[in-house]
Amino acid sequence: MAAPVLPPQQVQQLWEAAVAASAHAYAPFSKFYVGAAILTRSGQIFTGCNVENSSYGLTNCAERTAIFKAISEGADQGNLEVVAVACLNRDGVPCAPCGACRQVIYEHGPEAIVIYRAKDGNIAQTPISGLLPEGFRLKG
Ligand code: THU
Repeated sequence: MAAPVLPPQQVQQLWEAAVAASAHAYAPFSKFYVGAAILTRSGQIFTGCNVENSSYGLTNCAERTAIFKAISEGADQGNLEVVAVACLNRDGVPCAPCGACRQVIYEHGPEAIVIYRAKDGNIAQTPISGLLPEGFRLKG
């Protein structure tokens, strides 16, 4: 069976929201400016950017910023379900979510569709299960 995809209009909307968020990226160390946008089950969009720190390990990725914002705002009646995530580099560099973000996406959206610029330069859609097979679950 073909993998589920998001309709083009919603892809466009999420992508544009991620572009807007990337303008706020705080990345003075890597100069790799990232924006992300998530679509929740109830149809809300939350955005995020990467936030670096002089103590490098404290950096927070754009995708996790967006998800943590959604949870802290009580999205989906306090039970966030991520339907889709768009993640991009402001300068058009191919960029799929890092491993840590894949696990966080999986936690809150085991069936989430991830939208990103693939290495071939095209915008790709891949279910999180394709990017993170056998994602970790504490139980079951
Ligand atoms: N980064 C993200 O924001 N998301 C990812 O999925 C990959 C990496 C950020 C972290 C850091 O600020 C910069 O990109 C370079 O690693």
